[in-house]
Amino acid sequence: MRTIKFGIVGCGLMGREFASAAARWCHLTDVDVRPELVAVCDANADLFGWYRSNFPSITRFATDYRDLMKDGSIEALYVAVPHHLHAEIYVAAIEADKHLLGEKPFGIDREANATIRAALVKHPKAFVRCSSEFPFFPAPQRIFQAAQSGAFGRILEVSAGLHHCSDMDPDKPLNWKRQVAFNGAYGCMGDLGMHALHVPLRLGWKPRDVRAVLSKIVADRPVAKGSRERRPCETWDNATLLCTAADLRTGDAFPMTLSTKRISPGDTNTWFLQVLGTRTSMAFSSRYPKTLRSLEYTPGGAQAWREEDLGCVSAAPAITGPIFEFGFSDAILQMWAAFCTELAHGKAPFGCVTPEETAAQHAIFTAALESHARNGVAAVAY
Ligand SMILES: NC(=O)c1ccc[n+]([C@@H]2O[C@H](COP(=O)([O-])OP(=O)(O)OC[C@H]3O[C@@H](n4cnc5c(N)ncnc54)[C@H](O)[C@@H]3O)[C@@H](O)[C@H]2O)c1
Repeated sequence: MRTIKFGIVGCGLMGREFASAAARWCHLTDVDVRPELVAVCDANADLFGWYRSNFPSITRFATDYRDLMKDGSIEALYVAVPHHLHAEIYVAAIEADKHLLGEKPFGIDREANATIRAALVKHPKAFVRCSSEFPFFPAPQRIFQAAQSGAFGRILEVSAGLHHCSDMDPDKPLNWKRQVAFNGAYGCMGDLGMHALHVPLRLGWKPRDVRAVLSKIVADRPVAKGSRERRPCETWDNATLLCTAADLRTGDAFPMTLSTKRISPGDTNTWFLQVLGTRTSMAFSSRYPKTLRSLEYTPGGAQAWREEDLGCVSAAPAITGPIFEFGFSDAILQMWAAFCTELAHGKAPFGCVTPEETAAQHAIFTAALESHARNGVAAVAY
């Protein structure tokens, strides 16, 4: 078993998810590489307590990320910080020859993303990927395999997205995700859009153009819980992008809708992917986490959607029996298994988002901003 000594920069919501996944590595049965959490860094030292009481392997607690870069015993980093810090900290990690799983959108804007990728060109030995866990659910894996085998026939239409209801309450306090300086001009697209794009981009379904409708719904929010002082909520709450994509295998064009919403009634982290084709159609929503819906068309036959409950079948085999079900923390664990396996062996059954795919994401969202600003169709310049 190879051990990769890991550090985390950013001990918030997502930092804890990785730490927890590393702690239940014994869940995986066939992975010959494992992460060991040895260092954490956060500007807010109050967050260290949870890590201190759960991870005896952590020997370094830092408030300055540079301390982790200088530590030669740390082989890889997970960096989960606000978007305005991505370029600075990812580049520092790459220049310190650390392997890196960075969070999306992998740079606050296109320029920041190009800066990160330029560092990679100078340090090609660093294994660098971007986080996106939903495609590791069993049903999206089946949709991916069906697309790869050409089972859909001619693709009629694709829709993919991630919807949240977390901002429905207009009195929810402002945080960094609602401020352009920290979250970026993409707003909800930068926050949620890489999740929608991972599978389409991996299949080569790159949008050629985009028509975007972006909505700002809540104009201001209290600066803290219960405060009467309110400040502008600057970022886009909801985004709907209608794109022209093409099937690489045939060149046939089809409409692809990408949808990212912060204000979507009733949706708690609802990720979905639907592919309609002339032979087969398939649909998955994390609202029904084990259910794959599909329709096989045969001329003259009944056109009926069927539902199949897939159970716990994962890319990296795990102790959970196939009669049980799969969830968010399983997807996180599978993503980490894919990262560590690809780092150690150069390939994984389904790999994490590549730096090139993050660049495509930036090209698409830059075009979406342009499309919305001039109320027209914008070509995507890759
Ligand atoms: N993959 C996913 O499902 C998913 C979900 C949510 C967020 N994210 C991404 O994860 C990243 C972090 O988001 P989050 O929700 O965990 O945010 P968060 O606010 O919960 O955590 C960010 C942490 O970064 C720390 N930080 C800020 N400046 C720092 C600095 N200079 N040095 C060290 N630490 C610093 C903050 O103190 C905070 O603890 C973002 O890129 C976000 O888009 C991914």
